[in-house]
Amino acid sequence: MPELLTNENIMSALGRIKDPEIGRDLVSLGMVKRVEIDGSAVDLTVELTTPACPLKATIENDITAELSTLGASIVRVDWASNVKRSFGGPAADLIPGVRNTIAVASGKGGVGKTTVAVNLAVSLARDGARVGLLDADITGPNVPLMMGTTGAHVTGVGGRVNPVVSHGVQMMSIQYFLTGDAPVIWRGPLIHSAIQQFLRDVEWGELDYLIIDLPPGTGDAALSLSQLIPLSGAVVVTTPQEVSLADARKAIGMFNKVNVRTFGVVENMSGFICPNCREEHDIFGSGGGAKIARELELEVLGRIPLEPAVRTGGDAGVPITSPQYPGGEQSVAARALRELARTVAGRVSVAAAPFASAAASASVAGAAAAAR
Ligand SMILES: Nc1ncnc2c1ncn2[C@@H]1O[C@H](COP(=O)(O)OP(=O)(O)OP(=O)(O)O)[C@@H](O)[C@H]1O
Ligand SMILES: [Mg+2]
Repeated sequence: MPELLTNENIMSALGRIKDPEIGRDLVSLGMVKRVEIDGSAVDLTVELTTPACPLKATIENDITAELSTLGASIVRVDWASNVKRSFGGPAADLIPGVRNTIAVASGKGGVGKTTVAVNLAVSLARDGARVGLLDADITGPNVPLMMGTTGAHVTGVGGRVNPVVSHGVQMMSIQYFLTGDAPVIWRGPLIHSAIQQFLRDVEWGELDYLIIDLPPGTGDAALSLSQLIPLSGAVVVTTPQEVSLADARKAIGMFNKVNVRTFGVVENMSGFICPNCREEHDIFGSGGGAKIARELELEVLGRIPLEPAVRTGGDAGVPITSPQYPGGEQSVAARALRELARTVAGRVSVAAAPFASAAASASVAGAAAAAR
């Protein structure tokens, strides 16, 4: 066994590696859960703040590099994850098992909110997270169609309702309470009480992420929903045209007004990938998301191209990011959506860090003791 390869040295080497997203070291964040030395091989378990971590490879390279300076010739990293909570407030008690709530919003209708919400949920679930999807668009619920659950109805006992499960995601929509295609003509207070019931009476269980598909617009409905639902933050979807950007600005303004953080902007339908020639054409222009992000000091979380398979997947109830979508691996939009999900998960982890820091400092001592 190399002389330098001791538990103490390993812990102090790991203490020099920063989680690139949170900007603090792995040891003080309580991420090192197990260290075993066998000759010149080191086996360790690192607990990430999300199973959809966009920086796993970077962290693994950093660990291998640091430990090789101590003489380790083989480094094996087992990944675990513990998603922390990033929201609080009185309404948070309605959903005690939910760690993070992410609203997907837009000022303008039809820009791809539901498409983004559905694919975010499916992608996070595919990466191993426990995910829920709440269709808060009471008057135009589209989640059931896009998730292939139009015929589903709620079940439950004693006033508790079970979510409908599809593509690895637990879902709730007003559609699951209705029969036929009758339009829902509901006024504000009823919408409120429906949403409150979706939070309070649904057996969400333990969820790492609850994605919420908000109704379009920045009027009363969207505004009051973003106050009613305890939110970790919002993702604002826009298309590159000016009209959509103007509405996205309004949506971001609405979240600022109710003190909800906007994680960033998603530019959807950003360039069209022609299925015949594979070339990209800017139908609605491009770079609009970057412009608004710069102007409002936000981040572009992702750019999703306009790709016919995204729509056919949505219409068929098999989202393009689902493993059930044939050939989905080849889709540029699917890759962009899966990457978007990891970026959002990373930003949510950063938002949760202040909530978790008290718990983390307590676990530093524990990790050090466990390694000894
Ligand atoms: N990147 C994309 N490529 C191709 N089609 C897309 C893309 N994004 C969305 N679509 C399609 O555009 C249409 C509108 O998308 P979607 O229903 O997700 O928008 P929305 O913002 O939720 O609309 P609403 O405001 O009505 O709720 C759908 O048919 C969807 O399949
Ligand atoms: Mg929608």
